[in-house]
Amino acid sequence: MKYTFPGVFAFLLFLTTVFACQSEEEIKRQRYITEGILVYKNNCANCHQPKGEGLAALYPPLAKSDYLGDKNSVICLIRYGQKGPIVVNGKTYNHPMPAQPQLSDLEVAELVTYIYNEWGNEKKVTSVTDVTPILKECKK
Ligand code: HEC
Repeated sequence: MKYTFPGVFAFLLFLTTVFACQSEEEIKRQRYITEGILVYKNNCANCHQPKGEGLAALYPPLAKSDYLGDKNSVICLIRYGQKGPIVVNGKTYNHPMPAQPQLSDLEVAELVTYIYNEWGNEKKVTSVTDVTPILKECKK
């Protein structure tokens, strides 16, 4: 079989498009994570600790936390805080977490991307367009 010029050209164009899209997504992921680290350091690390390991019986861990299984709850909890007992990895915590109304939707998305990529076994962006509709539905 002979390769036609337009055929080869179309194939190369296809490859370039696929790779360009992938790396654009990857650049976005890296950007969200970089920002997420800063937002985490400034707003969360005091309690949950820099490596997400939590602090004794007071502050639950984020690293390998089974609570991360319900991402919608995590998104709402970050903005609106949390009161009453919760169970994380089989251990009960009962200490209020303050709401974080100072965080924009974008900052919440950056935090969630960072937390899930660092501690939740994800390799993808949770973008601001994912987070905004969820934040609107939170029970306050
Ligand atoms: C003043 C301390 C404090 C700060 C600051 C704080 N948290 Fe929390 N966080 C808590 C406590 C306490 C709980 C458990 C709440 C309960 O017992 O009902 C909690 C629970 C959580 C949970 C669910 C349980 C788990 O460990 O998976 C997540 C997720 C979470 N926090 C993320 C964050 C993020 C992200 C930030 C930064 C925006 C943050 N927290 C800031 C104290 C804090």
